Amino acid sequence: MSRIAYINGRYLPHREACVHVEDRGYQFADGVYEVIPVLAGRLIDEGLHLDRLARSLGEIRIAPPMARAALGLMLREVVRRNRVGDGIVYLQITRGVARRDHRFPPATLRPSLVVTARQGAGFPSDPDTWAVAAITWPDQRWARCDIKTIGLLPNVLAREAAREAGAYEAVLVDAAGAVTEGAAANIWIVDAAGILRTRPLDHAILPGCTRAALRDLLAQAGIGLEERGFSLAELRAAREVFLTSATSFVRPVTRLDGAPVGDGTVGAITRRLFALFARHIRGQRDNAR
Ligand code: PDD
Repeated sequence: MSRIAYINGRYLPHREACVHVEDRGYQFADGVYEVIPVLAGRLIDEGLHLDRLARSLGEIRIAPPMARAALGLMLREVVRRNRVGDGIVYLQITRGVARRDHRFPPATLRPSLVVTARQGAGFPSDPDTWAVAAITWPDQRWARCDIKTIGLLPNVLAREAAREAGAYEAVLVDAAGAVTEGAAANIWIVDAAGILRTRPLDHAILPGCTRAALRDLLAQAGIGLEERGFSLAELRAAREVFLTSATSFVRPVTRLDGAPVGDGTVGAITRRLFALFARHIRGQRDNAR
């Protein structure tokens, strides 16, 4: 079956879905994106993703190219046309096509909107086989990592470094020795004292939708969380480390820079949160449309 992409109002065969060479996304990374998980054909945590998209657009002053309700319908249509059961939807909005000039084009310019969907592996069956290795890596990004922009070069370089080291994720560490987040995920630890911690939201990290959903689940379950940053030294001393993202859900990190995290197996708290998140997913996946 051939894949279909939505591009500026049209559903096109994936191989024909092109943007102009002077698209500002292509020339300046002047745009934002979202990755939304799809399970059993349903968009997971759609509201959180569309809220964040609106915020990202506002922060870089691009007007929403489509009303929220229409956007939701179109996302579903792309999922349907691609017959995606388990996978992701990718959505990208750039400032549009204009003669190359750093300054904004006229506000009347239509933003470019591209949506694709692709099949993936689905929700993992257990946390043990889902566990990964990570490396640590200098955070070389800009000062507004809270905006989900398509300017991902430092993230790309960090992820490639992880791959070359035989690992999945790169945990980014700033110049002061503080952990910010992963190259494509938020990072959590159970520290040496047994406290579940993740960095509070600020301009140095992306406000993850998985992070937000898990935070709510923790509150509902009465599980304590300290939103308090941690250093590289605290990361190394942690009993448990895990990451959260739209594609990783709750994912244990059992090796860091080649050394075991804790005893090198998935810890009890990570295991519990994986199960909690699995239930959250099932609740949305199995809801009648
Ligand atoms: N990345 N931090 C960064 C830098 C990210 O790129 C992501 C997600 C997250 C987690 O956010 P969320 O839980 O909303 O997925 C945190 C996506 C999956 C990507 O770029 O493919």
